[in-house]
Amino acid sequence: MIEQKPLSRKSGYQEVVDRTGFVEHQDFNPIIVDNVFTEEQINHIYNTINNEPLDKVKVAPWGGQASWFSTHFRGDIEARISDIILDVVDGDLELRGDYSFARYSEEFGYKTKLFPHADKREKPRFLMDVQLRADTDWAIVIEDTEYVLKNNQGIIFSGTNQVHWREPKDIGPHARVDMIFFNLEFKDGRGFEPHHSDSITQRSRYLRDFYQLEDTPRPVDRKFNELQ
Ligand SMILES: [Fe+2]
Repeated sequence: MIEQKPLSRKSGYQEVVDRTGFVEHQDFNPIIVDNVFTEEQINHIYNTINNEPLDKVKVAPWGGQASWFSTHFRGDIEARISDIILDVVDGDLELRGDYSFARYSEEFGYKTKLFPHADKREKPRFLMDVQLRADTDWAIVIEDTEYVLKNNQGIIFSGTNQVHWREPKDIGPHARVDMIFFNLEFKDGRGFEPHHSDSITQRSRYLRDFYQLEDTPRPVDRKFNELQ
């Protein structure tokens, strides 16, 4: 089972949440899903990304992360996710092909990290993060509660309405953390509350200051690069 630390609200964050007005799904209890894919499906995913031309891979220096944005996988991969989300939020969510494979690794030239933020989209989205393979434990923090995924586990939460980040941790020069991010849309096309953007901005700002986690890229030591 998932290793979940108890709701801590250790930063005084709750006061900021209360002050900035209720945001739909801010208290959604993230759902953990075990055994997301079969071994054969995981092999298919890796075969697909390993055969993509490098110009399809986009590096995000602020996170030490590379994304395969336009890579799509076999139909049964998407069907599996659609199946899993049937009961989430009263069956209101659907996957419409919006997903990407991402790898955190210093091999891209930057320290791996993720600062407190909520995903910027035109409309509310839930997110299913699936950890395919990781060489190290690296907690995902959602609304100040930490979740440590195991390989082939997923976590579902509101990517646009719940502030999330990664625990500050040096995963080291040789570790890789491979994820797929599935963006889930609302069938009813609902929008945000008028105060959404202001609330999320203030909450993210508070947490970035508290944990001293920013979006500034941190290049890795050139000596390390030259050794590769
Ligand atoms: Fe995000």
